[in-house]
Amino acid sequence: MTVAAPSPAAATTKPFLAALAGRRQAIPPIWLMRQAGRYLPEYRAIRATAKSFIEFCYTPTLATEATLQPIRRFGFDAAILFSDILVMPDALGQSVSFESGEGPRLTPIETAADFAKLHETPDWARLAPVFETVERVRAALPAETALIGFCGAPWTVASYMIAGHGTPDQAPARLFAYRHPDLFAALIDRLADSSADYLARQVRAGAEAVQIFDSWSGVLPPAEFERWCVKPIQRIVARLRTQTPHVPIIAFPRGAATQLGKFADVAGLAAIGLDTAVEPRAAAAMLPTHLALQGNLDPLALISGGEALDRSVDRVIEGFEGRAHIFNLGHGILPETPIAHVERMLGRVRKTT
Ligand code: CP3
Repeated sequence: MTVAAPSPAAATTKPFLAALAGRRQAIPPIWLMRQAGRYLPEYRAIRATAKSFIEFCYTPTLATEATLQPIRRFGFDAAILFSDILVMPDALGQSVSFESGEGPRLTPIETAADFAKLHETPDWARLAPVFETVERVRAALPAETALIGFCGAPWTVASYMIAGHGTPDQAPARLFAYRHPDLFAALIDRLADSSADYLARQVRAGAEAVQIFDSWSGVLPPAEFERWCVKPIQRIVARLRTQTPHVPIIAFPRGAATQLGKFADVAGLAAIGLDTAVEPRAAAAMLPTHLALQGNLDPLALISGGEALDRSVDRVIEGFEGRAHIFNLGHGILPETPIAHVERMLGRVRKTT
């Protein structure tokens, strides 16, 4: 195994970056996936001022404000850029919209001719507001708070590009990959290279760590998991490393379960995000100690609150004993989550209540 070169993160005073550098913190740094969003009344208020969700993502003043809202309210250890993983298909020329209550809508890619219509590289001018948002957020954050950039993993983004909408099991993309493996591989490679360059630009604009969301990796059988989840993430990491060698990279392969160990060999990762269903000690046994572990409170325990929440928080913290741990949910916070429960969880993690 190669030893990582000393990085700027090694000298950081930001607890989140210190944990990513492999140093266990007495109190785990904490942020939440989807921490900006509809459970916050201040988000709903500014969201109502934009015509569409995608336009909201491309308006730096609004996206900056949405990124900062949960930091102001809760003082999380990291902010995550407010945007969406589906800006990538949009920048590659596939039209994307979000219907309220129904989720994303894309013109599906069904044929080689549809694929041929995509741009070779993202329209960087279209994504310029995202980089401006990163700059603005970074300038506004408290000194102890880190900024996370992100992208969707190729498999997850491709699954929306093929189906044209959300599905319970990504059957359209799985079928497409079996029927047209070369075409699907070309789409995955296009996404991997575009996403690596996209992350590099976020880092140059001020992102201090990046997360790759593979929200749908759990539907893939082992051989496909290797081919469409692990390998493309490896390709992103390798390409990003050549452009921004030191930035810590978190992979979040949701649903990876017993296949988590396949990430042990992905050179250049700093951390793995774990979903709710993973036993922390089992994950720790599958993954080498230089990898920090992030997760994995059940978002429903957070909705429930009370003693069930307290017990769940304690179990998560105990489960990661002995490892560099970043406290998070196992998936995104849900819109119906009471704010008082987020405060209760924070108090328990930070031992202030
Ligand atoms: O974490 C954050 O606070 C940063 C912002 C962020 C959003 N989406 C904002 C958003 C991030 C990191 C994402 C990632 C994302 N987007 C993923 C991966 C993580 C996961 O949750 O699995 C996926 C699969 C998407 C695609 C997506 N975006 C869907 C399926 C939907 C509709 C479903 C839903 O939750 O509404 C979105 C819309 C979306 N992205 C919203 C937000 C706040 C809600 C839209 C609105 O406010 O009108």
